[in-house]
Amino acid sequence: MQELVAKTQPESAAAAAMGAPGRERLAGRRERMVRAMNCRPVDRPPVWLMRQAGRCLPEYRALREKHSFIELMRAPELAAELTLQPVRRFGFDAAILFSDILVVPEAMGQPFRFLEQGGVQMATPLRGAPDIRKLQEAGVPDRLPYVAAALKLIKRNLRGRAALLGFAGSPWTLASFMLEGGSAKKFVKARELFERDRNTYDLLAAKLTAAVAEFLQMQIACGVDAVQIFDSAGGDLPASDFEAASGRWMEEIVAKLNGLAPVIVYSKGTRAWDALAKIGASVIGVDHGIALEEAQRRLPQDTGIQGNLDPALLAGAEPEAVAAQTRRLLELMRGRNGYIFNLGHGVPPNARMENLQALAETVQNFV
Ligand code: CP3
Repeated sequence: MQELVAKTQPESAAAAAMGAPGRERLAGRRERMVRAMNCRPVDRPPVWLMRQAGRCLPEYRALREKHSFIELMRAPELAAELTLQPVRRFGFDAAILFSDILVVPEAMGQPFRFLEQGGVQMATPLRGAPDIRKLQEAGVPDRLPYVAAALKLIKRNLRGRAALLGFAGSPWTLASFMLEGGSAKKFVKARELFERDRNTYDLLAAKLTAAVAEFLQMQIACGVDAVQIFDSAGGDLPASDFEAASGRWMEEIVAKLNGLAPVIVYSKGTRAWDALAKIGASVIGVDHGIALEEAQRRLPQDTGIQGNLDPALLAGAEPEAVAAQTRRLLELMRGRNGYIFNLGHGVPPNARMENLQALAETVQNFV
């Protein structure tokens, strides 16, 4: 059985990130992830979880008592520590930078804050073309120096033992937050703008595309092994509009990255398969609203597939049920090159540690 990384908390956070050498089977977790993203054969599918860093972890909550989320994200030492926490605890094959998709709008001139009661609020919503014209798309990486600083620290501490993932929001998803002015039960403003004034929507999407591409290029230059584009609002679009509102902009970002690193596109709820495949991503993230068999049938063989355990299981079910469902997906994808185990969406804040443990161990012990 594969030993997980030391469960006791190492004294010095980032420095001891991966536990003492020899405590775990260092079976090339980074290489496993990189190979899978390139659809090459692996001993077993790699595993990491969207939103693996954060509120479900007691070691995150301990730091969060002393600092706001924004402070944690902006302090490279703390962001590095939070990135490493889940990898240290569960031995995941990939670490994802501790940050947020909303740092890009902020660096373009639209700051945000998190609300006590949950959710996020932008200082002011974008109200129309004049607001959009004012957004500064050039130089975003220079205004987010803490991201590069955190990535360099993480890289140094991981020493190649797990893959490091950078990320950004998709233009459509960022536009949804920016036009709405924060979280919303239903995002309607971006749809409205897209329908009513296509030129203005395209101006915003083009600016976001330029900003996101430059931001991801910077992350790649800092040494991330791959980047994920979160198109969490993709499924708000009818399939017929997906390409024009979201897909083509992600396709442009992938083209601008010029093959420098694999790109994972996670478009929650999107069923426009041809448009998804056309983006040119190495891997497509699949949400839990669809059977993985079907996603597999609809996506090209040479594209990786990432997903799609129902995150609700992590809070509500017993560890045996989590293990059984995890095994079901692993069996289903047996022999399919390019499969990466993940959830259908992010880890919920009330996920139980024993369930995360059961998930990780089930994948790590899969033969
Ligand atoms: O995956 C990871 O572990 C890396 C870190 C990460 C965060 N946010 C940290 C976070 C990532 C990749 C994100 C992405 C993100 N942020 C998305 C796309 C993914 C998704 O879940 O669909 C979106 C839509 C956001 C925007 C966002 N961030 C909102 C709307 C909120 C508030 C609602 C909420 O969940 O609390 C956040 C907050 C946030 N981002 C937290 C964390 C750890 C919670 C902050 C806290 O401790 O209060």
